[in-house]
Amino acid sequence: MAYAAFRSIGAYAPEKILTNEELSHMVDTTDEWITKRTGIKERHIASEDEFTSDLGVKAAQKAIERSGIALEDIDMIITATISPDYFCMPSTATIISAKLGLKNVTAFDISAACTGFVYILSIAKAFIESGMKKNVLIIGAEKLSSITDYTDRGTCILFGDGAGAAMICATDDKNEAIIDIHTGADGEYADLLMTPNGGSGSAHDSLEAEAGSCFMQMKGNETFKVAVRTLTKDVKEILADNDLTGEDIVHFVPHQANLRIIKAVGDALKMKEGQVVLTVAKYGNTSGASIPMAINDIYEAGELKAGELMLLDAFGGGLTWGSALVPFSPKS
Ligand code: UT7
Repeated sequence: MAYAAFRSIGAYAPEKILTNEELSHMVDTTDEWITKRTGIKERHIASEDEFTSDLGVKAAQKAIERSGIALEDIDMIITATISPDYFCMPSTATIISAKLGLKNVTAFDISAACTGFVYILSIAKAFIESGMKKNVLIIGAEKLSSITDYTDRGTCILFGDGAGAAMICATDDKNEAIIDIHTGADGEYADLLMTPNGGSGSAHDSLEAEAGSCFMQMKGNETFKVAVRTLTKDVKEILADNDLTGEDIVHFVPHQANLRIIKAVGDALKMKEGQVVLTVAKYGNTSGASIPMAINDIYEAGELKAGELMLLDAFGGGLTWGSALVPFSPKS
């Protein structure tokens, strides 16, 4: 049987930085409020002519180079994004494949909001274990600034742009294999976090649709409470299902939405400070890109070593959630 190994990581954050101080001149907020309630200090913002696919390509190039896999051996690209280059089609994954110079590759996007990276990891694992694909490039890429309402202080302080990518490859060695992935969703909570306009569910002639285009709207406080409850339950279950405890985890890599959510879930798992990967202060919430960007941060800091076990954990619009037990398995 083929197993799926997490071979490499790469990420990219656009150059321009938007600080809390700058936001305080745009909406009624302060650096103190944002820092205390979210842990965010700044976020990166893509330039006007830099699309989600451009961010994804830069992250992907690093992941491919670090994997040791030849470009022509990649047989599938999956992108997780809620801010695609184009609404409906073509998919951002196909645009990325062309920009990378890949031909004859299966390419598609999925929409699972901030849980997107865990979802595409599970799809890559399933395709590899079934023997249908061997080398799958997965990319979480977001230009959230393109769907953010910069007059809404409840959301605009949270989100940033960026991309992260990983190569998931077939291996015969079970020790290298991704151990387990849980994914879930509950559409009953769909209205907590959504882009209400622009799709088939919105009236085309409504003023709201014209004014709001595809901006995100969130019931922040309710989302916060469901996030803490769902994430804590989900990570406890995946650990128990695999006879593991928090002590077996070298790197706990949660979705970077809010420092208070991360702390609450980390405390419930009795995680020590050094185990929890934190990038929320410098990138804010980059949705599907947040987990791979965080993994890339510890990789580039020399803190992620071969064989070390990561616990990934995400939550987002849909509502969706997911967790994964992933040893880092670069090609030896
Ligand atoms: O990634 C996908 C999932 N997303 C999340 O997990 C996000 C979850 N939610 C959150 O992170 C938090 O709910 C927020 C950071 C969005 C908000 O923090 P909160 O502690 O839940 O605040 P709140 O919404 O309960 O609002 C408290 C007060 C309100 O004022 P009043 O009604 O008490 O007078 C808000 O109007 O804070 C006010 N407020 C602000 N004040 C200054 C809301 N946003 C701001 C702001 N600056 N930016």
